[in-house]
Amino acid sequence: MLFDFTQEQLMIRDMVRDFTAKEVEPRDKWMDENGFDHELHKKLCNAGLMGVHLPEQYGGADGDAITSAIVIHELAKGSASTALFVDAHWLAADIILYHGTEEQKSKYLPMAAAGKIFAFGLTESSAGSDAAGIKSQAVKDGDTWVLNGGKAWITNSGVADVYIILAKTQPELGNKGISAFIVEEGTEGLKIGKKEDKMGMRGTCTTELSFDNIRLPASAMVGAENSGFKIAMMALDGARISVGAIAAGLAEHAMTIAKHYANERTTFGKPIAKHQGIMFKFADMAAHIEATTLMTYNVARMKAEGKRHTLEAAMAKLFGSEMCTKTCMECIQVLGGYGYSKEYHVERLARDAKLLEIGEGTSEILRMLIGATILAK
Ligand code: CAA
Repeated sequence: MLFDFTQEQLMIRDMVRDFTAKEVEPRDKWMDENGFDHELHKKLCNAGLMGVHLPEQYGGADGDAITSAIVIHELAKGSASTALFVDAHWLAADIILYHGTEEQKSKYLPMAAAGKIFAFGLTESSAGSDAAGIKSQAVKDGDTWVLNGGKAWITNSGVADVYIILAKTQPELGNKGISAFIVEEGTEGLKIGKKEDKMGMRGTCTTELSFDNIRLPASAMVGAENSGFKIAMMALDGARISVGAIAAGLAEHAMTIAKHYANERTTFGKPIAKHQGIMFKFADMAAHIEATTLMTYNVARMKAEGKRHTLEAAMAKLFGSEMCTKTCMECIQVLGGYGYSKEYHVERLARDAKLLEIGEGTSEILRMLIGATILAK
């Protein structure tokens, strides 16, 4: 792939590639069957991957948005769940990085870099795509905020140490009346609810959350009062780059399995890889993976250069996620009956892929965003 990584980025890429092959990929099937892998989490911490892009002063490795995309991309080549876990952790921690006070950064970013798990709580059972429709509410009571409500579909909930929770602070103002709060695990009134029994990405933990009169100090608010909606949207711009990276890595994982199979399996006296019908599938898959990879690193570079990247991140996520599902289904087709069996892993990757078209902005919402932006130009 044509992309100019720095020497340092190449070193990180090679390190994560090696780590993924040795530690991540071999555990992916176990996670699909058993759920979140605490041992792997410890290994990610020891490898310094939980805060690779955070500033050195807060315990990170000072990587930029391209480095973040490299880490997610390489992890996804072995386990989409693991890549999604790290993506969701960064989605929440980055809100403190970009909008927190110095006091909040000094307290929470070293925790994030050391491996305490963060989660981003925007979605509710009755408000997903319509993010401004959330009902959780924080009401001022003297010097504190009293938070009530709940969240649903929050990646890392149930295993997280720190939650960034979006709640209405002035409901009559719609999206202009939402604020972001830091809620630590163990806070009185925070209840972890039902764990979702998901189709894929089963190595990540997803639960319901409920808030019963949680008392939060004024210092728990991140960013200005009522600025939470824009903060969340900006954070999602970054996370959508990660989804592009997961899509590229996951699709490559599936194609690698299919490639080995196609070179081994023979029909009509030759490997199926030599049949044009199969060859064409690989040509299309490879071209689409390359396109997703380039779109992803291009938008990561825009982010690293401090440019607004809402449109390009939405495009990378939309194109990448749909490409990824399609690629996994094509790989199942290449493997035929074996592709439909759990033994050959591709069916698991296809189940993981589907989430990418739903989480962090559905394809429909992204088409609305992209269409409206292009037509307004
Ligand atoms: N960056 C900066 N500002 C932004 C922005 C961005 N990316 N997106 C919107 N804004 C600003 C707008 O400019 C506007 O500001 P002004 O009023 O000052 O002009 C304001 O925010 C409101 O924007 P919209 O009018 O576009 O707001 P809307 O209510 O119409 O919502 C939407 C639009 C795009 C559909 C939005 O609701 C949305 O993105 N929905 C999808 C939410 C989503 O992706 N959810 C997944 C969460 S992931 C999760 O929860 C799971 C997990 O664990 C990770």
